[in-house]
Amino acid sequence: QDTHAWSGRFSEPVSELVKKYTASVTFDNRLAEFDIEGSLAHAAMLNKSGVLSDADLAAIRDGMAQIIADIRAGNFDWSVDLEDVHMNVERRLTDKIGDAGKRLHTGRSRNDQVATDIRLWLRAQIDAIVVLIAELQTSLLDLAEQHADTVMPGFTHLQVAQPVTFGHHMLAYVEMLGRDAERMSDCRKRVNRLPLGAAALAGTTFPIDRHYTAQLLGFDDVCHNSLDAVSDRDFAIEFTAAASLVMVHLSRLSEELILWMSPRVGFIDIADRFCTGSSIMPQKKNPDVPELVRGKSGRVVGHLIALVTLMKAQPLAYNKDNQEDKEPLFDTADTLIDTLRIYADMMRGITVKPDAMRAAVLQGFATATDLADYLVKKGMPFRDSHEVVALTVRHAEQQGVDIADLSLDTLRQFSTLIEQDVYSVLTPEGSLAQRDHVGGTAPNQVRFQIARHRARLAG
Ligand code: ARG
Repeated sequence: QDTHAWSGRFSEPVSELVKKYTASVTFDNRLAEFDIEGSLAHAAMLNKSGVLSDADLAAIRDGMAQIIADIRAGNFDWSVDLEDVHMNVERRLTDKIGDAGKRLHTGRSRNDQVATDIRLWLRAQIDAIVVLIAELQTSLLDLAEQHADTVMPGFTHLQVAQPVTFGHHMLAYVEMLGRDAERMSDCRKRVNRLPLGAAALAGTTFPIDRHYTAQLLGFDDVCHNSLDAVSDRDFAIEFTAAASLVMVHLSRLSEELILWMSPRVGFIDIADRFCTGSSIMPQKKNPDVPELVRGKSGRVVGHLIALVTLMKAQPLAYNKDNQEDKEPLFDTADTLIDTLRIYADMMRGITVKPDAMRAAVLQGFATATDLADYLVKKGMPFRDSHEVVALTVRHAEQQGVDIADLSLDTLRQFSTLIEQDVYSVLTPEGSLAQRDHVGGTAPNQVRFQIARHRARLAG
């Protein structure tokens, strides 16, 4: 049985249940390589400050290299008796190199150590996520480019509203993901600061050089208050909030894919490799991946609530509550990374059915606003044209046809301002072409936005 670093203080060991309850090594061991990176920087700083000898530093480097090799080879036995990743690694180091291993923790506490490890780990996750968001944006841009002219109904209230292009619809998600990437990069600035040197809570009596440690670890700055450095997890909450928004955006897209793939809508098909069948109904092909993304968005939002609630009401400085930050944080990053990966691939496996989309536009009086705008351009006040077109739509509906199918004579019964040129605005293509301004759905605007995004992603 491994004895604790603090066994001298206690007269009896904790029970097995307490040991299991308080240990975090079963999940925080994934921080091991970041923990070692932090320890090596700390040791180098102690050496530079004259606190640790050259021989000790060399021994620590050698021992840590062996430990990394052991971990990668699966030869590291994580012990629950040693509670967490930090004490497991430190004990293994001491077993390997003796007293030099025991000197590593000089001027340091697990409190600043764990805060440093999480920041190093989270920084790497954010960097991966930013790349994956860009990959998903690229696959959406490819789809948008193929369908810059493809007419589909735009909806409000899930009722047919006005024609848009499928490309324009995809670009809406490219915009959302662009803001998501910005939020991730912005959050990274606050993640990328060094807690080490705060020690347990008040700093240390050793002549440390925190800026040197920060520089070695690639941190932009140090945390400037030792109490704050060890106790706040706001950076983790901020990341989880940003991750929640990505998941919410992908949940909205998932909901649309599911709806569009329903045979009652039939706008798209999703490649078989992202769907599953039914164990009882032979005909089924279910959009499991988007459904799971929609479901997993709830899980990530749940982690956000867990972390905010964890932080709330903790007095300064470190409290053991903070050990509970890891599982929600890890699962948030894992879920988001897997979701982004699978989504980029899934969007390449979407088949668009332009005929079904166009038919839906023609059934929904989607160009009614275009007729109202046409009358305004001929001199009628908008509120009057709105009324005229409403009556026209009612008539067309009774006849079971689209307004573009009504004869000129029929249309002129509603307003004599209507002339032959009206038909060019009543087709879906005419409607799209007229919305030719920045942010509009006209196909050349869609192409312009695609080019803008591509330049941004390349730059
Ligand atoms: N395993 C702990 C955590 O995850 C490390 C810090 C523990 N410090 C302490 N004094 N109990 O937060």
